[in-house]
Amino acid sequence: MPGTELFGAEERKEIEDVLSTGVLFRYNHDALRNSHWKAKDFEAEVKKITGAKFAHAMSSGSTAIATALAASGIGTGDEVIVPPFTYVATIEAVLFVGALPVFAEVDETLCLSAEGIKKAITPKTKGVCLVHMCGGMADMDSIMKVVNDHKLILVEDAGQSFASSYKGVYTGLFGKAGSYSFDFFKIATAGEGGVLVTNDEATYKLSDNYSDHGHDHVGEKRGMEQHPIIGMNYRISELHAAVGVAQTRKVGSAPG
Ligand SMILES: Cc1ncc(COP(=O)(O)O)c(C=O)c1O
Repeated sequence: MPGTELFGAEERKEIEDVLSTGVLFRYNHDALRNSHWKAKDFEAEVKKITGAKFAHAMSSGSTAIATALAASGIGTGDEVIVPPFTYVATIEAVLFVGALPVFAEVDETLCLSAEGIKKAITPKTKGVCLVHMCGGMADMDSIMKVVNDHKLILVEDAGQSFASSYKGVYTGLFGKAGSYSFDFFKIATAGEGGVLVTNDEATYKLSDNYSDHGHDHVGEKRGMEQHPIIGMNYRISELHAAVGVAQTRKVGSAPG
C-alpha cells in the first residue's frame, strides 16, 4: 500500500506547523521556527524504524543515492556493479558521480546475485550499488561474502524497500551507506524526498556537506560557514519533510 493512500489529518498538522512560522528552510532560523525542525524529525523517525545511527533527509531518492555513492568514496573512473533490473535513477546516480555502471545478473530475489557480482568484477571495480526491488531484499549473506572477499564498497539503493529487513538488519545498513525514496509512489511519501542512512559518522558528515553545496554547518551564521568540499543543492524543504514525518510514523501501523 503506497503511503499516499494514507494521507490525512496527521500530514496536514505537520504542514500547518511549518506554515505557521514560514520557515521553509531546514537549516538555521532558530528563533523564528518555534521549535519546528521537520527535516530533523523526519530523520529521527527513519532512525527509529531502521536503527540507523545516522540519517540525512534530501530532496529525492535519486539525490540520496548519488550522495551515498559520492560520500562512500566512489568517483571518476571507478567501475560500479549494478543490476539491469532497477529504476533508471540508480544508473544515473552512478554516472553522475563520474563512475561507470557495469551490469551483472539478478536472481529470483529480483536483485543482484552474488554469482553475478563475482563474474562482473574487474581490476577497476570499486563498489556495488545493490538495489532492493519491490519492497523485498537481495540474498544478503551470499552478497556480503563476495563484497567482503573482494574488499568492495557496498552502497544500497533501497528506494523501493524502506523498512524492509533481513535477519534483523534493515536495508541500507549492510554497507557504507544506503538510500530510500519518499517520492509520491513509495511505501511512505514526502511528495518528493529521499533519506540516506549510514552507521558511519564520517560518511554522514560528508553527505550532510555534499548535499548542501559543501557547507560545513558549523556555527550560527550560514554566510560565514566554510565549504571544505564542492557539493550541490540536494536539500529537502521543511514542507516536504513535514509530510515525511507524518508518513514515516504510519509505517509501523499501516494495514496491509
Ligand atoms: C530503486 C529506485 N531507486 C531510486 C529511485 C529514485 O527515487 P526518486 O523518485 O525519489 O528520485 C527510485 C524511484 O522510483 C527507485 O525505484
